[in-house]
Amino acid sequence: MLNLLVLLADASATENLSIFDPASPSALSIRSLSILVAGISAFIFVIVEGVLLYCVARFRRRTAKRGSEPPQVYGSTSIEIAWTVAPALIVFILVLVVTRTLWDVNRPHPKPVAGDQTLFVTVIGHQWWWEYIYETYDGQTLGVVTANELRMPVSSPGVDRPVYLTLKSADVCHSFWVPRLGGKTDLIPGHPNEHWLQTDKTGLFLGQCAEYCGTQHANMLLRVVVEEPAEFERWLANEAKPAVEPAAGEPAATGRATFLGQSCVNCHRVRGTPARGSVGPDLTHLMSRQTLASGMVPNDRENLRKWLLNPQQVKPGCLMPAFGLTPREFDQIVDYLVTLR
Ligand code: CUA
Repeated sequence: MLNLLVLLADASATENLSIFDPASPSALSIRSLSILVAGISAFIFVIVEGVLLYCVARFRRRTAKRGSEPPQVYGSTSIEIAWTVAPALIVFILVLVVTRTLWDVNRPHPKPVAGDQTLFVTVIGHQWWWEYIYETYDGQTLGVVTANELRMPVSSPGVDRPVYLTLKSADVCHSFWVPRLGGKTDLIPGHPNEHWLQTDKTGLFLGQCAEYCGTQHANMLLRVVVEEPAEFERWLANEAKPAVEPAAGEPAATGRATFLGQSCVNCHRVRGTPARGSVGPDLTHLMSRQTLASGMVPNDRENLRKWLLNPQQVKPGCLMPAFGLTPREFDQIVDYLVTLR
């Protein structure tokens, strides 16, 4: 319940999920198409229902002529041509506008070029979280891996800073959908898909996995943080560094040893340490993320401890098991994790 309240407060305070409030060229194109198709459909509805209602009123059975039939029509070339040509024309117009939108939405990925401020990211859908591998930015090869929060630079007038996403899946089908930034694109096992994002608005854009993928599908939330290029580049430079190593004697140093001594390392990676797992989210800069459990709860000390204690209570069905550690060991590991900025 608390999670839901946090999410609702978050969504209402900072962001909406409406396709009618587009913030990117492809989302704008999708909204225009939606309005046009809804308009054409509404027009047809009004005409058909209007004729129906007119006929019901005008040709209702009259008591005087009980038993008589209306005039019967056996084949009328003009009527048949009319009801074939009109729908064919409507479908033809819809094909043209849908094709134009498809071109806008499915922009082919270019090659990375130095100086173009273009970002390439591989997105991997997992049950039930998102992995982001920052491949290249501005022509530079990166080695940045993060989770659940996609950061990207904002475009300014005359300077496009698009993000090209390659969508993959580690398990089942998922679907990447940030309504204000574009349509849905599926993440299919063994079949990489492409998607692109671009916006001239800074801020947080929320989304949701849009393909049923198991127990926690509804909690596979998407967060896209759009920042000024300088801010984004600062974040990216920090993400590229290995994890900070706590000084000997600090509580975090004890925590680090406890963490590395547990089976955490089988699933999680902390760059710069022997933890090299790849099943769960990369924790190298865990605290640079605003939420835990794919957007479910704010990422703070208290929630982190709750999560470690029993992930199944926070996110029932999730693939992280509860470890039977002592309260002291939990505290030590949390002491270490909160230093991973
Ligand atoms: Cu992933 Cu639904």
